[in-house]
Amino acid sequence: MVKKSRLLAIFLAISFLATINFSSSNGDANNMLCTSIERQALLTFRQGLANPKKLSSWVGEDCCAWAGIHCDNMTGSVVSLNLKNSYDDYVDGSWLAPLGGEISPSLLELKHLRSLDLSMNDFNGTSIPDFIGSLQNLYYLNLSRALFSGKIPPQLGNLSELRYLDMSRNSFYVPLGTVFTLDLRYSRHFVLEEVENLQWLSHLSHLEYLDMSDVNLSKASRWLEEISTLPSLLELHLSYCELGSFPSLRCSPSNLELIKLGSNKVSSSLPRKLGNFKNLHCLDLSDNSFSGPVPVSLGRLSSLRMLYLTGNKFNGSLPESLTHVSNLEELRISYNSFEGVVTETHLANLTRLKVFDASSNSLALNVSSAWIPNFQLTQLHLQSWKLGPQFPAWLRTQNSLSYLDLSNAKISDKVPTWFWNMSSQLSRFNLSHNQIKGKLPNMLKFDVFSVGIYLGSNHFSGPLPRLPSNVRELDLSKNSITGNISFLLCNPSNETYKLSGLDLSRNLLSGEIPNCWRHLTDLILVKLDNNFLRGNIPSSMSFLSQIQSFDVRYNSLSGKLPFGLQNWSMLESVNLGSNNFSGSIPSWIGQSLPKLMFLGLRSNKFNGEIPRELCNLTSLQTLDIAYNNLSGTIPGCFSNLSAMLTKRNESDMTYRGFEETMLLATKGLLLEYARSTLAFVTIMDLSQNNLSGEIPPKITHLLGLRYLILSNNHFTGKIPEKIGDMVLLENLDLSRNQLGGKIPPSISRLTSLSKLNLSYNNLSGEIPRGPQLQTFTELIYISNNGLCGTPLWKMCSGNGSGQIPKIKDPDDDENDTIAQFYVAIAPGFVVGLAGFCAILVFVDSWRIAYFRFIEDMKDRLFALFQ
Ligand SMILES: *[C@@H]1O[C@H](CO)[C@@H](O)[C@H](O)[C@H]1NC(C)=O
Ligand SMILES: *[C@@H]1O[C@H](CO)[C@@H](O)[C@H](O)[C@H]1NC(C)=O
Ligand SMILES: *[C@@H]1O[C@H](CO)[C@@H](O)[C@H](O)[C@H]1NC(C)=O
Ligand SMILES: *[C@@H]1O[C@H](CO)[C@@H](O)[C@H](O)[C@H]1NC(C)=O
Ligand SMILES: *[C@@H]1O[C@H](CO)[C@@H](O)[C@H](O)[C@H]1NC(C)=O
Ligand SMILES: *[C@@H]1O[C@H](CO)[C@@H](O)[C@H](O)[C@H]1NC(C)=O
Ligand SMILES: *[C@@H]1O[C@H](CO)[C@@H](O)[C@H](O)[C@H]1NC(C)=O
Ligand SMILES: *[C@@H]1O[C@H](CO)[C@@H](O)[C@H](O)[C@H]1NC(C)=O
Ligand SMILES: *[C@@H]1O[C@H](CO)[C@@H](O)[C@H](O)[C@H]1NC(C)=O
Ligand SMILES: *[C@@H]1O[C@H](CO)[C@@H](O)[C@H](O)[C@H]1NC(C)=O
Ligand SMILES: *[C@@H]1O[C@H](CO)[C@@H](O)[C@H](O)[C@H]1NC(C)=O
Repeated sequence: MVKKSRLLAIFLAISFLATINFSSSNGDANNMLCTSIERQALLTFRQGLANPKKLSSWVGEDCCAWAGIHCDNMTGSVVSLNLKNSYDDYVDGSWLAPLGGEISPSLLELKHLRSLDLSMNDFNGTSIPDFIGSLQNLYYLNLSRALFSGKIPPQLGNLSELRYLDMSRNSFYVPLGTVFTLDLRYSRHFVLEEVENLQWLSHLSHLEYLDMSDVNLSKASRWLEEISTLPSLLELHLSYCELGSFPSLRCSPSNLELIKLGSNKVSSSLPRKLGNFKNLHCLDLSDNSFSGPVPVSLGRLSSLRMLYLTGNKFNGSLPESLTHVSNLEELRISYNSFEGVVTETHLANLTRLKVFDASSNSLALNVSSAWIPNFQLTQLHLQSWKLGPQFPAWLRTQNSLSYLDLSNAKISDKVPTWFWNMSSQLSRFNLSHNQIKGKLPNMLKFDVFSVGIYLGSNHFSGPLPRLPSNVRELDLSKNSITGNISFLLCNPSNETYKLSGLDLSRNLLSGEIPNCWRHLTDLILVKLDNNFLRGNIPSSMSFLSQIQSFDVRYNSLSGKLPFGLQNWSMLESVNLGSNNFSGSIPSWIGQSLPKLMFLGLRSNKFNGEIPRELCNLTSLQTLDIAYNNLSGTIPGCFSNLSAMLTKRNESDMTYRGFEETMLLATKGLLLEYARSTLAFVTIMDLSQNNLSGEIPPKITHLLGLRYLILSNNHFTGKIPEKIGDMVLLENLDLSRNQLGGKIPPSISRLTSLSKLNLSYNNLSGEIPRGPQLQTFTELIYISNNGLCGTPLWKMCSGNGSGQIPKIKDPDDDENDTIAQFYVAIAPGFVVGLAGFCAILVFVDSWRIAYFRFIEDMKDRLFALFQ
C-alpha cells in the first residue's frame, strides 16, 4: 500500500504537470513548443504503428500538447510517453483498437524520456525491442499486458535509472466484447520468457518495483540469487512464472516489502529464517506446492499485513507464534494440509484481522463459549473445519462480517435467533452440508446490494421464508422443508427481484407452482426437482426470459407445456422427467429454444410424433424422451443434430462464465451449473414408446453419441450396417423391438461399449466377434430365434432352431431402468466436473489462460457488481 500510494503520487505529479503543460500551452504556445527533432521522432514512431487511430490528435506543432505526451515545463523536452490503452475507449458498441505494429527506434531521439507506458496494447506476439535498453533516463517502464512475446532483451540491464519495471501478463488475450464468455478458440496465447538468466537485472541498482508475472522463468534457475542482489527492491511480483526451485536463502537481511510468487511450481518448504524479512507486509505464495510446516519465525514478521498460503501442501499445526504477527489483516491459508486445533491463543493478538480464510484443512477450533475475539472480521471461511456441534457463539461479536462460509463444519445445532438478525449485513453466507435443524425465519432481511444464501444439505424443516428482493442466489436444496412455494415468491409488492439462481430441490414441498414469476425476470437457474409439486407450469413463467436451466423432474406436474415457454430463448437445459405432462412435444421447441443442449422429457405422458423441428437444435447433446406414448418414426433429419455429430474434444469447449465465476473462490449455484453443463454427455434415449419404422441408417452419422437407447419400441428392419462407426458408444440398447437380419459385423468395432442389449428381436445369423463383445454374456442376445455362435450355446453350422431359454431380462423393471439411467448419467456429470478441473490442472496453458482470464475479468467486473 505504501508503494501504491507512492506510485499514485508519481502519476498524480505527472498528470499535474501535464495539466499545467496543457494550460500553459494554451496560454503561451511558444513557451511549450517541443523540439522539432522530438516531434519528428514521435511522428515516425506513429508511422510504424499498425493502427494509430488513437493518436489522431497528434497534429500541430506543439507535440507537448499531444495526447499521452508530457514535457518538462522548463526545457520542453518529452519526459513521458503514456500510451496505456484503456477499456474506456468503448465507443458505439466496439472497442477502439489498441496500438500495435512496430515500435520505431525513432523513440531514441527522446533523450530525456523518463517514463514509457505501452501497457494494455496489442503487439501481437512481437518481441520487446532491444533499443528500449538505450533509453538511458528511463525511470518508469510499463510493458504490461501488451502481448509481447519471445525473449526479454538483456539490454534492459542498461536502464540504470529504472525504478519501476512492469512486464507482467503478456501471455493471454481474449477477444474483447465477450465479457461473459471465454471461448478459447478465439484466444491468442503468447509466452514472454527469460531464456538463460536474470543477470541483466542485477545492474538495475535503483529498481524498487519489479513485476514479471507471467514471464516464463522456468530456465532462470538462479532467479532468487539474481533478484536478491537488487539493493533497492521493495516489491517483487513473480506470479505465474513457472518457477520451480526455491533455493534455500543464505539469507541476507532484505528490505523487500512485498513478495508475490503465486501460481508457480515451487515445491520446497519455507526457510526457517523467514523471519528475516522484517519489512515484509505482503507475502503471497498461493497455488504452489510448498510443503512442510510454517516456520515459527513467522512470528517475527511484525510488519506483515497479508499472508496468502492458499493452495499448497503445508502441513503440521499453525504455529502459536502467529499471534505475534499483530498487524495481520488478511490470513489466507485455505486448501492446505494444516491439522490440529486452533485456540484462542493463536488469535489473541490479531486485533486487525479482517479476512480469515482457512477452508479445507484438517483444523478444529476450540474456544470457550464465552470467547470474545479481539478482531472484527469482514470475511470468514471455515469450510470443512470441525466447529460443531454447537453453532459458534462468538460469531455474535462480529458486526462487520459480509462473507461467511461455515459449510461442512459439523454443526448440528439450530441456528440461533441472533444469527438471523445479524445476517442482514452478509452478502454471502454458506451453512450448507451441516446437520442444522429447526425452522427458517419467516422473514429474512438484508441490507446489502445482493446476497447469496446457501443452506442446502441440512435438516431445515418447516415452511419457506419470504424472498427478500436483493437475494441473488438461494439454495435450500436437500432439506426437509414443507408447505408450498407461494409464500416465498408471491410477494404483494412489485419490487424488482435480483434472484438469478433458485434451488429448492429434494425437499418435501407440495401444492402447485405459484403463478408469481412475473417479477423474477433475472432468473437463470430454477431447480424444483424431487418434491411433491402438482398442477401445471404456470403461465407467468413465460416471463423468465433469461432462464438457462429448468429442472422439475420427480414431481407430479401435469398438463401441456405452455405456449409462453417459447420466450425461454436462452434455455440450455430443461428436465421435466418423471411427471405427468401430456400432449404432444411442441414443435416450437425446435424453433424457439436454439441453445437447448439437454432436453429431458422422460417418464411422462407425451404422445404424438417426434417433431421434425427438433432437428434444428444445433446444440442438442442429450435427447431423453423415453417412457412416453410417442408414436411414428424417428425423423430422418436426426442425423443432422450437429452437436451429436462430432466427437468433441476438450479444446472445442466453450467456457461460459457468469459473473460468479469471477469470484472464483466462492462457490455458487450458477458457477456449479456453468461447469456441469460442460459435462453433458451425448445421449439419445427413445426407449419405451410406440415408435416404429426403420432405424434411419444415417443415425450412424451421430459420431458423438455415447448412449443410444431405442429399446421397447416397434422398430423393424435392420440394425444400421455402419453402426460400428459410432465408436464413442458406451451403451447401445436395441432390445425389445422387431429388428431382423444379421448383426452388422461392424459392431465389433465398438470398443467403448460397456453395455449392449440386442435381446428380444428377430435377429439371425452369426454373432460377430470382437474384443469388447467377448465381455458380454448371452443375456444380451436372448430371445432372438436365429442367432448363433458364441456366447450362445447354439453353433452356427446346422439349421436347428436352437431355442434359447427365456431368462428374466435385467431391464424389465421400469423404475430400475430409470434409476440405472440416472445413476449412469450422474457419474458422467461428476466425471465431467472432475474433467473440467482436471483440464485446468493438466493443460497448463489452459489453466493459466483460465485463471488469467478470471483475474482480468475480476478487475473489470468488480466495478460493475458492487
Ligand atoms: C513546473 O512548473 C511548476 C509551476 O510552474 C513548478 O512549480 C515546477 O517546479 C516545475 N517543474 C519542473 C520540473 O521544473
Ligand atoms: C497477429 O499476427 C498473426 C501473424 O503472426 C496474424 O495472422 C494475425 O492476424 C495478427 N492478429 C492481429 C489481431 O493483429
Ligand atoms: C502497468 O500498467 C498496468 C496496466 O495499465 C497497470 O495495471 C500497472 O499497475 C502498471 N504498473 C505499474 C508499476 O505502474
Ligand atoms: C547495453 O547492454 C548491452 C548488452 O548487455 C551491452 O553490450 C552494451 O554495451 C550496453 N550499452 C550501454 C550503453 O551500456
Ligand atoms: C516455459 O518454458 C519451458 C522451457 O522453455 C517450457 O518447457 C514450458 O512449456 C514453458 N511454459 C509455458 C507455459 O509456456
Ligand atoms: C508434513 O509432510 C511431510 C511430507 O511432505 C512429512 O514428511 C511430514 O511428516 C509431515 N509433517 C506432519 C507434521 O504431518
Ligand atoms: C500481543 O502483542 C504484544 C505486543 O506485540 C505482546 O507483548 C504480547 O505478548 C502479545 N500477546 C500474546 C498473547 O502473544
Ligand atoms: C478444548 O479446550 C479445552 C480447554 O482448554 C480442553 O479441555 C479440551 O480438551 C479441548 N478440546 C479439544 C478437542 O482439543
Ligand atoms: C434483532 O435486532 C433488533 C434491532 O435491529 C433488536 O431489537 C432485536 O432485539 C434483535 N433480536 C435478537 C434476537 O438479537
Ligand atoms: C407496481 O408498479 C407500478 C409501476 O411500476 C406502480 O404504478 C404500482 O403502484 C405498483 N404497485 C404496488 C402495489 O406497489
Ligand atoms: C429448421 O431447419 C430447416 C431445415 O433443416 C430449415 O429449413 C429451417 O429454416 C430451420 N428453422 C429454423 C427456425 O432455424
